[in-house]
Amino acid sequence: MRAVDIILKKRHGEALTKEEIKFFIKGFVNGSIADYQAAALLMAICFNGMDSRETTDLTIAMANSGETIDLSPIDGIKVDKHSTGGVGDTTTLIVAPLVAACGVPVAKMSGRGLGHTGGTLDKLESIPGFRVSLSMDEFIQTVQKVGLSVISQSNNLVPADKLLYALRDVTGTVDSIPLIASSIMSKKIAAGSDAIVLDVKTGSGAFMQSVEDSFALAKEMVEIGTRAGRNVTAVITDMDQPLGMAIGNALEVKEAIVVLQNKHTGPLREVSVYLAAQMLLTANKCTSLEDGCRMAEEALTSGRGLDKLGDMIRQQGGDISVLEDISLLPGADEIILVKAETEGYIASIDTEKIGLSSLLLGAGRSKKDDIIDPGVGLVMQKRIGDRVEKGDTLAEFYVNKQAGFQEAADTFLHAIEINKEKPELKPLIFGTVTKDGVFR
Ligand code: URA
Ligand code: CA
Repeated sequence: MRAVDIILKKRHGEALTKEEIKFFIKGFVNGSIADYQAAALLMAICFNGMDSRETTDLTIAMANSGETIDLSPIDGIKVDKHSTGGVGDTTTLIVAPLVAACGVPVAKMSGRGLGHTGGTLDKLESIPGFRVSLSMDEFIQTVQKVGLSVISQSNNLVPADKLLYALRDVTGTVDSIPLIASSIMSKKIAAGSDAIVLDVKTGSGAFMQSVEDSFALAKEMVEIGTRAGRNVTAVITDMDQPLGMAIGNALEVKEAIVVLQNKHTGPLREVSVYLAAQMLLTANKCTSLEDGCRMAEEALTSGRGLDKLGDMIRQQGGDISVLEDISLLPGADEIILVKAETEGYIASIDTEKIGLSSLLLGAGRSKKDDIIDPGVGLVMQKRIGDRVEKGDTLAEFYVNKQAGFQEAADTFLHAIEINKEKPELKPLIFGTVTKDGVFR
């Protein structure tokens, strides 16, 4: 077999065989196939696509390119959740404890911020002492003991994706459904859970900006999971504005704690309870979504979810006093109010720019090895459809370094469109995709 023939075949729009896909991934990871050949194949896939069988073969070949996690020492159906990436999207810190509090073990590997999106690991590390790098034994023991652990993805999990992602990033080949679906699902399959709930974001802060593309991506990922023997549900949720009000690491942990303290209502809480219910249903812990919602609500209002988060923080070396007093989390020297320059209604929000604004304050990375500042970020004061008068505060900026502030504030203000007419509000949850079909 030769790499060039496989590239030509895809360039001509033909389906690749499983053997050809395996040969290519293996050769790319071991260095016998060059970057430029992989880049050419990626571009051919962008133009000519892949059918579900090919995408599944690609996913499995990628998942098997490194270590795969065996969660069988943990009793019960293990359920994982994954967000395709968002802004102010703190659901894992709420959903995982709620699900664990309902008796479903959650063994989760999370990532760091990517581009304008935040990452659960960076958020967790703002808790003093919290360790995200556990050995595999410690990870399993933590789940056995407290029912919940969130750690960093092992370095050797899906090396094919690390290499391919880096190449896609610089060759204009990120936004292809088979490439995104195989990238995400290879990591979920290698991470070992039996059931997976995917939160597929749609809108101005998501990789998929149109609702139809988001459903297509969801369908592809559910198809791959089903072919690979996993029970997968995808939920399509809104990312046309940040989900929570806080954007920034410690700020988002604070907001998640306030939700688990039952002191916050709004879209973050609503989507979190819904995702938790879907996880309970996918793990066969309840027989209907309504039952799942009731169980998740009860875990939240009773405080059992908050206790579960505390158990995990303690077990992973973190300081649990932050749950009683969120001011013990990292803060900022200064809070600067960013105000509306005109009056009207918030008509739209360029959510990607809101993420970039927080990143410019120091909450995210512009280069791979940038060090993030856990205390900085912003807290939105308005959502789409809200009325604003000139001079009203749109957001509180938590600032440690004045240097980045002006650009961050300008980026933020450019992201907010204020109009005379009140806009029509979009749904928060657009629908779900399971192996049984599309529900919307
Ligand atoms: N997240 C991933 O892990 N991979 C993609 O390709 C896009 C989002
Ligand atoms: Ca921060």
